Parts: sequence; structure tokens; C-alpha cells
Amino acid sequence: MNPVKIGLLGLGTVGGGTATVLKRNAEEIARRAGRGIIVDYAATLEPERAAELGLEGLRTTDDAFAVVNDPDIAIVVELIGGYSPAKELVLQAIENGKHVVTANKALIAVHGNEIFAKAQEKGVMVAFEAGIAGGIPIIKALREGLAANKIEWLAGIINGTGNFILTEMRDKGRDFEDVLAEAQALGYAEADPTFDVEGIDAAHKLSILSSIAFGIPLQFEKTYTEGITKITRDDVVYAAELGYNIKHLGIARRTPLGIEQRVHPTMIPKKRLIANVDGVMNAVLVYGDAVGPTLYYGAGAGDEPTASAVVADIIDVVRVLTTDPENRVPHLAFQPDALSDLPILPIDAIETAYYLRLCAKNHAGVLAEVTKILGEGEISIKAFIQKEPEHSTDNVDIILLTHRIKEGNMNTALTKIEALDVICGDAVRIRVESL
Ligand code: HSE
Repeated sequence: MNPVKIGLLGLGTVGGGTATVLKRNAEEIARRAGRGIIVDYAATLEPERAAELGLEGLRTTDDAFAVVNDPDIAIVVELIGGYSPAKELVLQAIENGKHVVTANKALIAVHGNEIFAKAQEKGVMVAFEAGIAGGIPIIKALREGLAANKIEWLAGIINGTGNFILTEMRDKGRDFEDVLAEAQALGYAEADPTFDVEGIDAAHKLSILSSIAFGIPLQFEKTYTEGITKITRDDVVYAAELGYNIKHLGIARRTPLGIEQRVHPTMIPKKRLIANVDGVMNAVLVYGDAVGPTLYYGAGAGDEPTASAVVADIIDVVRVLTTDPENRVPHLAFQPDALSDLPILPIDAIETAYYLRLCAKNHAGVLAEVTKILGEGEISIKAFIQKEPEHSTDNVDIILLTHRIKEGNMNTALTKIEALDVICGDAVRIRVESL
């Protein structure tokens, strides 16, 4: 089957990430989608970007409408951002019968009602997972995974730039402006960074989440919006003294009177998981009546994290274009004829670090014998504890933390260690993963 040709509008941070992920994971993606996907045409004002991204054969143009009107393009991926000309381009793509994938939360929050009506009329998909919380599949979770629930409320850290600024102010005492400049350089911030720091970007995202959670039309303009510009380092320090972290939250809550839809700095007790979501990371807590609280966490901005969601949406569209409509998403995520025969490793072959507790007789030379065996197995010790026993005749606990090593090496070493006269009983081992 011929590959599906997509047209990219924009080869900036997210456009570049999308092209890179599609190219790097092309084989795996085709196994999932049931068909190859190629970036065929891109609109960019910097044609040299194609070569920089290793896409030498890519057709480029500075006229985004040329991509939207190209008959070979099946899916238009809008990554320009902003309201206009993004709106005109998306509406034209839909008019031309093309499916649309976008990361543009501003466009969806403000013009989504009109865009969706047009897409419904033309029978095409408009997918926008990448617009909210970067790489976190929160739209999919709300729309599909939590579909059984009446959603009571959701609360999220949904602007990576703002969270990055608050975290750096708290942890490193850095100035607001200095951290914002770094967020811009890293490609986290919006083209107009006031969208980040005044809460507008978070309000765009929250209004979309709120509509999907409660089944209401998009109403961005009714979102109460307050940014982080009035938060000083003093506030951050006082809040910490009181046992709280300050986070910029978007909150949507169902009440008997209507929907609360608000974005503002919020103090959260430090022991809450969401209070510890730092840097550019995002997290969304969703409370469903059946499931209770659920938490979704991941990178909220950046080239490849956002591309992760863009490409997932592209794959969804390609599955609709390609596969048996009764089995749109394969049971095991990959097409049945594309499953691989990668082996599952035996436990001996896995690699991890270890905590070991050895019971040892309190004799001279015990440690030397143990460390000699570990050394022979190429097992490197990372940390060590031995407490003084109450009585000199008592056995002692030797606690060792090792670097990562194959389980097989550890098994061999432990068999030898447990056979030593100076070791009493079996060693206790707990595998250590930094994840
Ligand atoms: N400016 C946005 C943020 C980018 O910082 O979260 C991702 O939507």
C-alpha cells in the first residue's frame, strides 16, 4: 500500500520534532499504522531547515496554502500556531477534504466550535492532542479511557514555561526574566511569551479540557485567567515555610450552579503529588465519579515531547484511512501481521542495581572475602553500611548498594558469598531502579 503523504505547516520547534520522530521511528510507526507515513511537503520561511533536519528530498514552499491545496496531501499538520492564518489554512484543508492534526490550542480554544462543525460537515478528522499538556495523552484519557465516568473536576499544571519559571525561582533564586529567556531559548515559550506568564496559554488549554470533561461548547472567553507575574520569590519562600508549593493551576469543576473554569497561581500542600511536578513537566489530575482521582504526568513542552502527541494523532488518522474500520486500533497496538519476535529476556540477562543485606560473623577478613567475590563478578559497590554490634560476639549486618550489573553475575556472586563460612543464612537482595 502506498505511504500516506502528509503536509507540514511549519518546521519550527514542533515541526522539526515531528519530522524527526516520523523519520527516526518510521518502521515502528508503519507497523502500528498499517502503512508508511512520509512528510512530503512543508511550508516554511526557512527552506534550509529541511536540510538541517536531514530531509533533503522534502518539497518546501513559503506558501502554506500551496500545501493545503496540494492534491497529494492527505493530512495537513498545522504547527504554525496563532489564530491567523492558522484558522484560514485549517478551514481550507477541511474544505479540500483533508484531515487535520494541530498542536494549536489557541486556535482550537477560540475557533474550535466553528472548525469542528465544518469538519463534521466534510467528514474529516481534526485531532489536537498535542495542544494540551505536550506529550501527555490527556485528551485520549478523558475522551476514551475515562468515558464511563461523570467527571467531577480536573486540575492541571498545563503551562510548562510557567512551571519552569516558578521552579527555578524557588530552587535557585533566579530572576523571573532570566528564566523566561531560557524557556524561550529552549523552545518552551509561546511566540508571545505573555501568553505563558499571563495564563492565557493555560486558559486556552483548560477551556478545551473542560469542554471534553463536561460535554460543553468551547468557552475560552469565560475562563477566569490570572498569570504568575505577581508572584515574587518572597511568596514562594513564605508558602514553603507554611508547607505549600505555589503552582499555576487550571481548574475545571462541576458544581450545582455550573462549571468553574479558572486559571491562577494556587498553593498546594507539599505532600500532594501534583505539588512536586517541577520544571517544564505538566500534570493533570482528573476526578471521575467511578474511578476517583487519576493523575497524568509528562513533559508539557519541547520539540519531541510535543511531536510524540502530534505523531500519535497522525497515526490515528492513518489507521482510519487504512485499516479495517471494525478494528481501527489493533488489539496489541501494532498491526497483527507486523508483530515482531523480539525475545523476552530470562531474569539472568536483565541488568539492574542491587541493595544487599548480608548477615556476617564478626571476624577479621569477612569484608575482604565478600568484596573479592563481588570484584570477580565485576560488581562495583556504590555505597556501604556496617553498624557497630551491641556485643562483640554478635553477627553484623553488612549493607551494600551496587552499581548496575547483570543479574547472572549477581546470582553467581551471591551463591559464592552465601557458601562462605563467615556468612550466616541467605543474602537479602532488593533490586534498585532509578527509573
Ligand atoms: N508554551 C507552552 C508551554 C508550550 O510552555 O506549556 C506547550 O503548549
